[in-house]
Amino acid sequence: MARKRIIAGNWKMHSTISQSLDYIQTFSSFDVSDKVYLAVPYTAIHPAANACKDTNIVIGAQNMHPELKGAFTGEISIGMLKEAGAQFVLIGHSERRHVFKEDDSFINKKLLRAAEENFLSFFCIGETEQQRENNQTKEVLKNQLTLGLANISSKQMNNIIVAYEPVWAIGTGKTATPEMAQEAHSYIRACLAELYDDTIAQQLSILYGGSVKPDNIAELISQKDIDGALVGGASLKPDSFSQLVKNSG
Ligand code: 13P
Repeated sequence: MARKRIIAGNWKMHSTISQSLDYIQTFSSFDVSDKVYLAVPYTAIHPAANACKDTNIVIGAQNMHPELKGAFTGEISIGMLKEAGAQFVLIGHSERRHVFKEDDSFINKKLLRAAEENFLSFFCIGETEQQRENNQTKEVLKNQLTLGLANISSKQMNNIIVAYEPVWAIGTGKTATPEMAQEAHSYIRACLAELYDDTIAQQLSILYGGSVKPDNIAELISQKDIDGALVGGASLKPDSFSQLVKNSG
């Protein structure tokens, strides 16, 4: 079975409600026929999800707390996200790991919660520049996969997409070469075959993220194990993101 091509945007801490609605209106006018995923700021989820009801844009969140409710000032639960209209969540993004010090076990709790709730997760992994220079890339990826996916069943893997985002390539303009990305993706697939089985490893979508732009997406996506992209900066403007989606086809 051929894996579906998936293009997702991560707006990070950009766009107010009105800016999000303007974006959606402009993006929709470009007649992009493929489904796209947009992880928007919390405040924009509800209005954006409403505005995207009859479109091929799927709105999601950038993070969530693993508990269903409680004394967690400033946090957000999966129930809140679902009712607001989010259809997916990013988990373990490198900025959550490195800026907000989230560790693998906390990320695992979030993945377990999303899986229990049949909610789609984009599980992000990736090595730092230092780890790559020290030849630790494979070890880091294997560790993040093993710890992050602990106790996630084979069936629950249906609701997980993996995003490989080398930390050194995020927001730096330094994209991994298609060959480097392919090597990492194929290794991730091998780890998934070991953790689960070949069928799951072959069916699971693995996206690349890190300085993906309209002019490098085609080459990245032409690699055998790259099934799509998680895009930061180039998803912030409707014209560049629509061009990127078109160039991925
Ligand atoms: P950039 O595309 O801006 O490098 O960001 C990638 C990213 O972090 C997507 O989640």
